[in-house]
Amino acid sequence: MIKAIIFDLDGVITDTAEYHYLAWKALATEVGIDFDETFNENLKGVSRMESLELILKHGNRQDDFTKQEKVTLATKKNEQYKTLIKRITPGHYLPGIKELLMEIKEAGYKIGVASASFNAPTIIDRLAANNYIDYIVDPGSVDHGKPAPDLFLNVADHFSVRAESCIGIEDAKAGIEAINRAGMFSVGVGTGTAIKEADLIVQSTSELSLERLLLAAGS
Ligand code: BG6
Ligand code: MG
Repeated sequence: MIKAIIFDLDGVITDTAEYHYLAWKALATEVGIDFDETFNENLKGVSRMESLELILKHGNRQDDFTKQEKVTLATKKNEQYKTLIKRITPGHYLPGIKELLMEIKEAGYKIGVASASFNAPTIIDRLAANNYIDYIVDPGSVDHGKPAPDLFLNVADHFSVRAESCIGIEDAKAGIEAINRAGMFSVGVGTGTAIKEADLIVQSTSELSLERLLLAAGS
């Protein structure tokens, strides 16, 4: 029986995936690396430092910077990202997500956020979503990021529920793999092949409802 629903944040609750893209693109351009939306798909769900490594490798520049210089580059991207997320208001949920959160809350299920982002609490605050969300994982508290299952399992642990009693919702390949490896029912949002391994696939968040999720998960 399903007891908890666990959301990814960026690209599922709100469209911050676009802001991550813009901030990384600015940084990549600055260090002379081509960066487009196709390559950006590889970064979705991936931690800040790992994303930087992938970008530098993509431009064959992974050996051109010291560890400290890489931290400086990642910090610069994050500063740009923090400027962009100042635009987020309580009107910036992806379609149907606010209604879905309200519906889940009212029905008494636990709601968790399993994001790789250290900015997640700020974004949840800006959306005024704190009333719906019972728990946000601190990505610094787990050993491995997505596609490892740790972030999702951390939420199940926190709620003292079994993985089989959780539904996870994601927009990224690494995220779907994380949910599947956690042994939870996976829901992929999007139109590309990134989410093809999900148990249930919807093209848009507007197609999600509690009833549909529970039916698909057999609960
Ligand atoms: C994930 C995003 O949710 O968080 C990635 O999909 C991002 O693009 C990662 O790199 C880490 O986020 P932050 O905000 O801590 O740099
Ligand atoms: Mg995402």
